[in-house]
Amino acid sequence: MLVVDALTKDFDGFLAVKNVSFEVAEGEILGLIGPNGSGKSTTFNLIAGALKPSAGSVRFRGEEIGGLPAYRVAHAGIGRTHQIAKPFRKLSVLDNVALAAFYGANQRITRDEAYRRAKETLELVGLRAARVENLGAAGLKKLELARALATQPKLLLADESLGGLDHAEMEQAAEMLAAIRRERGITIVWVEHIMGVLMRVVDRCVVLDHGEVIARGKPAEVARDPTVIEVYLGTDAPEVQAAAHAARR
Ligand SMILES: Nc1ncnc2c1ncn2[C@@H]1O[C@H](COP(=O)(O)OP(=O)(O)OP(=O)(O)O)[C@@H](O)[C@H]1O
Ligand SMILES: [Mg+2]
Repeated sequence: MLVVDALTKDFDGFLAVKNVSFEVAEGEILGLIGPNGSGKSTTFNLIAGALKPSAGSVRFRGEEIGGLPAYRVAHAGIGRTHQIAKPFRKLSVLDNVALAAFYGANQRITRDEAYRRAKETLELVGLRAARVENLGAAGLKKLELARALATQPKLLLADESLGGLDHAEMEQAAEMLAAIRRERGITIVWVEHIMGVLMRVVDRCVVLDHGEVIARGKPAEVARDPTVIEVYLGTDAPEVQAAAHAARR
């Protein structure tokens, strides 16, 4: 469904993403993991059209989308969440999601249709329509997810959906991504730090470090890969252990 080939981003001589290649098959959940600053969000920004690649290509369902503006990528069928939630704070939760439904529709839709999609999506993520200012960390994550889903994507790029959540909320969010794939048939690339929870949900992982792919494979293989353990040592070592533990179960 998605073929990322030799993708590169050069920020004034600093290569945040170097020659990154991976593929995503329709229906799978791929985990894109790696320590802080390894290039995960930049990779998403390059795919989603928030940044233009310096080199390389991104093909989605056979069409080159690398370098297209974000709205065209959205219309092609890719939805994304942001690591830091970016709702319109003066609009209600429902209006935020309805606006996303308008944004994602590549044909004109009526106001009624946008609000119907928005309500259905809020129900799916389990968020009550409310004021944005009343949402906590978990609520903002759900709103971010709802806005991405309201664009009716075939492929969802979810960036660190668990950051700032407590353990129960994390489990719930992971189950939600699994349910989105299972019930909606949406393919997912999931960027996450909390490896333990991610490893139980994803089919495969791609691991980045300093902008490069250093490992890929099934969660259990990646969790015992010495290179992966080394790059996480000193930063997230307990998470690697948790991931290895989760993958063994
Ligand atoms: N617009 C930018 N200009 C210059 N450097 C940038 C820019 N965006 C990101 N970077 C740098 O690129 C590197 C990769 O950043 P990125 O946000 O992709 O990492 P990440 O893997 O998502 O990290 P985290 O786990 O902390 O979210 C970092 O060193 C970051 O400082
Ligand atoms: Mg990031």
